[in-house]
Amino acid sequence: MLAIYTAHIHRGVGDLGDYQPEPFEESDLKRRRKNMSKHRLPHIVADLDGLVAGYAYVVPFRKRPAYRYTLKHSIYIHPDFQHAGIGRALLPALIESCAAAGYLQMIGYIDSTNVASLRLHESCGFHQVGLLPSVGFKFGRWMDSVMMQRALGLGNQAVPAESKAAFVDC
Ligand SMILES: CC(C)(COP(=O)(O)OP(=O)(O)OC[C@H]1O[C@@H](n2cnc3c(N)ncnc32)[C@H](O)[C@@H]1OP(=O)(O)O)[C@@H](O)C(=O)NCCC(=O)NCCS
Repeated sequence: MLAIYTAHIHRGVGDLGDYQPEPFEESDLKRRRKNMSKHRLPHIVADLDGLVAGYAYVVPFRKRPAYRYTLKHSIYIHPDFQHAGIGRALLPALIESCAAAGYLQMIGYIDSTNVASLRLHESCGFHQVGLLPSVGFKFGRWMDSVMMQRALGLGNQAVPAESKAAFVDC
């Protein structure tokens, strides 16, 4: 996973590109995965004969409690294994784990020039819900971000138990 993270930083693809973060260590990764699992946030890898060929994870869309059923995700495939069907296997697995954990909406931000990621997301049921122009800067140009969303499980047809209770209390 560290190799994938580092490769994408150096090659400047995806939204990690073109900046030099603090060194990211194995211990940081372990801490992050532990923290995510404590909060029921799926963080999965594609295992290719014992080799991590890609990973995908989610974080809360926003920290405030009203947004607790909505997630923001990221997916990265090792450069040596891109365009070989791994994203196509990993993203549905992430969607399934998030739905099973009870989340109801999933959102991704994708560079508008990242055709592979846009196609992958469309084929996994995501729809474009927004376009954020000129929100990033890399390789000497302004980047537009496409916001893509899909419902999980019942989506907005679900009525979380605590909101029913809150309504009755009022
Ligand atoms: C974008 C990414 C996640 C796609 O994963 P992948 O394993 O390379 O893609 P897959 O081989 O599973 O292909 C999935 C779909 O993406 C599209 N796709 C893949 N490669 C493509 C390419 N070179 N050009 C256009 N579309 C492409 C196709 O629609 C494909 O579906 P198909 O096989 O039915 O035609 C991966 O390439 C990656 O990690 N890229 C760098 C980091 C990144 O951009 N992450 C996403 C940030 S939002």
